[in-house]
Amino acid sequence: MSSQPSQTALSFGDDESIPIDSVKDDRDRSSSGLLLRWSRLRKTVLVQKSYDSRISFGAPIIAPGAANGAQRGNTKKVILSDVSGFARPGEVFAMMGPSGSGKTSLLNCLSGRSPYESGVLSINGKPLDQQNMKRLMAKIAYVKQTDIFFEHLTVYDQLFYTASLRLPQTWSKEKKLAEVDRTIELLRLSKVADSEIRMLSGGEKKRVNIGTELLTDPEIVLLDEPTSGLDSTTSVELVKMLQQLAQKSQKTVIMSIHQPSSALFQSFDRVLYLAGGSAVYFGKPKDSLVYLKEHGMSCPDGYNAADHWMDLLDGLSSYTYARSTSMTTRQRLIRDWDNEVIAKELDTSVNEEGDKSTTSKNKEYSKYNTSWGFQYKILVNRSLKNSRSAIFTPINIIKSVLIGFVAGVLYFQMDYTESSIQDRASYFFFTMTYWVMDSMFQSFMTFPTERDVVLKERASGSYRLSAYFLAKTTSELPARVILPCVYMVISFWMASISNSFSIFFATVGITLLSVMTGEAIGLLVGSTVYDMEKGQTVLTVVALFLALLGGFFVQNVPSWLDWAQYLSPFAYAFFAILPIVFNEPIPCDGSDIIPQCGGSDTGSIAPEGVLEMLTVKNSVAFNAGMLFFFALFPRFIAYFALRAKKEGDR
Ligand SMILES: Nc1ncnc2c1ncn2[C@@H]1O[C@H](COP(=O)(O)OP(=O)(O)OP(=O)(O)O)[C@@H](O)[C@H]1O
Ligand SMILES: [Mg+2]
Repeated sequence: MSSQPSQTALSFGDDESIPIDSVKDDRDRSSSGLLLRWSRLRKTVLVQKSYDSRISFGAPIIAPGAANGAQRGNTKKVILSDVSGFARPGEVFAMMGPSGSGKTSLLNCLSGRSPYESGVLSINGKPLDQQNMKRLMAKIAYVKQTDIFFEHLTVYDQLFYTASLRLPQTWSKEKKLAEVDRTIELLRLSKVADSEIRMLSGGEKKRVNIGTELLTDPEIVLLDEPTSGLDSTTSVELVKMLQQLAQKSQKTVIMSIHQPSSALFQSFDRVLYLAGGSAVYFGKPKDSLVYLKEHGMSCPDGYNAADHWMDLLDGLSSYTYARSTSMTTRQRLIRDWDNEVIAKELDTSVNEEGDKSTTSKNKEYSKYNTSWGFQYKILVNRSLKNSRSAIFTPINIIKSVLIGFVAGVLYFQMDYTESSIQDRASYFFFTMTYWVMDSMFQSFMTFPTERDVVLKERASGSYRLSAYFLAKTTSELPARVILPCVYMVISFWMASISNSFSIFFATVGITLLSVMTGEAIGLLVGSTVYDMEKGQTVLTVVALFLALLGGFFVQNVPSWLDWAQYLSPFAYAFFAILPIVFNEPIPCDGSDIIPQCGGSDTGSIAPEGVLEMLTVKNSVAFNAGMLFFFALFPRFIAYFALRAKKEGDR
């Protein structure tokens, strides 16, 4: 093994051991920070091998029993190969490497959001077990590469809601607002504070993302490529801001970064280079150049050191060394880096400090800073703001009014006689189908987008899923109720469905209940099928199948499909409404629609005859009860499906 001056020069300094229990909930700006270490972190994933494994993207693939690489089946892909390192408070640690080298994967593991196969993660010398990791997640801010928000909220609202949910509930509103103001100032967001997030530029969105995470004054800040998509000046400013934050408040800042400028590269306190999941260098940036020089790969004068590293790791380097052997510079760098030196040094210090801190008692710990009720209140508030702009738009109100008029005109002033039975029934079937489908697709569409925000916020311990779920249902209720009501008020009376207010209210009630079932089915599909396109296909097929079974289109359902009718909320809605509407004897009018009238225009027939003709099954109460069940049951499954999903999953 070749000598590694920068590795042997490693030292952990005289860090004081701070047990995790001593990390306070309240602000303690004089805190001496958290030292994060990881040794021999290994992560593998199972990938389905559907092509020759020789076409792997750099990471070694272990295919048990598949020596020729041509067999199919699952293979284990190593995405982190025994990586070790540490990041100290007050310092900025940069992780670099080509695309696919494992930067995001390592950050996911360090943030506690993704499991790893083996290795030790420790904080201030205390190894982190699952329990400790859970507790720590709220202290670790993780700014992901993609900026996920509720885009209709303003910057100020975004920060205010985050402050409300994540800062201790005991804090006064003023104190929370002061933190919001401090963050806005820190990230220079005052000019856009009142703009909706969707209007912001990429750099501004990134700063809102960072601000959202910094609001809770985390001890460790992880950032996945915070400078991607930013121009070089903005990137430098951002990194400088993070450096100041680290130094002033003793934060531990860890970021992955692509191609920093020379000056930026030199300004990092420590860097870790990864290639194909393996570490190829860990230490001070300056020492990395010494290291390369000793290995005959020195950086040419005036050349950007970070670019030079990337050239070497991409295998694009024009080094004599690379040309004279069959090995690329990247392969050699992977081979030469001795991870064990660091790992052993880390092991010793972790064991020593771990021993010291094991005496500290584990307190009862809640991941959340706020109570369930408080979370619910804030989430209803936020969701109302969000759904008011997403569902309660003027265009949706106009749509409801217009469709109400269209239905009203087409079914205008129907008589209550034999000839209008089909029209009356079809009015309700259209009404049900339209509003149930509308709520199905609306709730399906909103959910996949919210799900990412929710998973992200939940990973940082912002609130309980049940609080979110209930808040979501509550806050969408007004919009879901008002829009169909607008339609009904217009069309019901224009079509002269009935002159009775009680019939009007009863039919509106059933319509709303069926809207809730549509919403529940949409939520269910949205939370279980991750892919939007697949979800839409599933939902369309399910919705049309259920609608066809609804009793209006197909009246003689094949007997082997009889059971399926019991799954159709459309059928329950239709069968619940018809007995309410046809509650009086229907006069014959000579149109010969009902056989019992026999073509006569005198006399009338009992409503039961009409309901039988329309294949209505079961009582109103039973059908309404089933609607109620379908409005609730899919929500439970959706809730548990969402619960099972973790943020680190891909
Ligand atoms: N769940 C997974 N299943 C299969 N492969 C995965 C999974 N997670 C990560 N990988 C693979 O692991 C490798 C490392 O991915 P990672 O996202 O960590 O790279 P990265 O260094 O962040 O790249 P980039 O710079 O492009 O963001 C990639 O080849 C990726 O395809
Ligand atoms: Mg990445």
